[in-house]
Amino acid sequence: MSTHIGAQSGDIASTVLLPGDPLRAKWIAETFLDDARCYSEVRGMYGFTGTWNGQPVSVQGSGMGQPSMAIYVNELFKDYDVQSVVRVGSCGAVTDDVAVRDVIIASGACTDSSMNRIAFHGLDYAPVADFGLLRGAVEAAEAREGGSPFHVGLIFSSDSFYSARPELLGEMVKYGVLGVEMEASGLYTLAAKYRRKALAICTVSDHIVTGEETTSQEREQTFGEMVEIALTAALA
Ligand code: HPA
Repeated sequence: MSTHIGAQSGDIASTVLLPGDPLRAKWIAETFLDDARCYSEVRGMYGFTGTWNGQPVSVQGSGMGQPSMAIYVNELFKDYDVQSVVRVGSCGAVTDDVAVRDVIIASGACTDSSMNRIAFHGLDYAPVADFGLLRGAVEAAEAREGGSPFHVGLIFSSDSFYSARPELLGEMVKYGVLGVEMEASGLYTLAAKYRRKALAICTVSDHIVTGEETTSQEREQTFGEMVEIALTAALA
């Protein structure tokens, strides 16, 4: 096992879906996978491996924020030879063009995190999605009849859910940012470091400007759509 994941080598599939919430990992495994079995319960951050359309796939909780996510993703890449990670999460909308329940497929991620600033000695690295996964997700989203509206573009990965300077997000919006979450930027950088593939897809759970929120039932429905898009992009 690795430091934070209680799996033997070979227990984790080469494709991993990555929700922040470990109970979402359990729900995804129970709802979408065949023959799912739990490979890790360390710190309650569940991981499951099963099959989808006959193909092996794992689902691993990442926790909230880039420091937590980076612990799991480093170990998935380094210790379990995972090749593709698709984050399936939630985000807040920051522009009138994006509504609650919409889906954002993040082509790239801005951030206020110091992780990359430290790694790149103050230079700005531009973390982007794997193009093949991005294209696959866009095609899967386009093919869904009656599916939630979706957007492709920039997301902002914040280190603070309760930001000390929320007005700074307005500047990001002027430059095309569609939503705010807390993990994509670090995920994309780690995928680049290990020469692996990553994509972040988020359902909009709340609107930061209007204050509108989704109900838990709505969240579950749009979350399920996003999981199907992610599985199709990664495995179809
Ligand atoms: N901020 C950061 N992450 C989020 C938000 C938010 O408002 N909503 C859902 N994930």
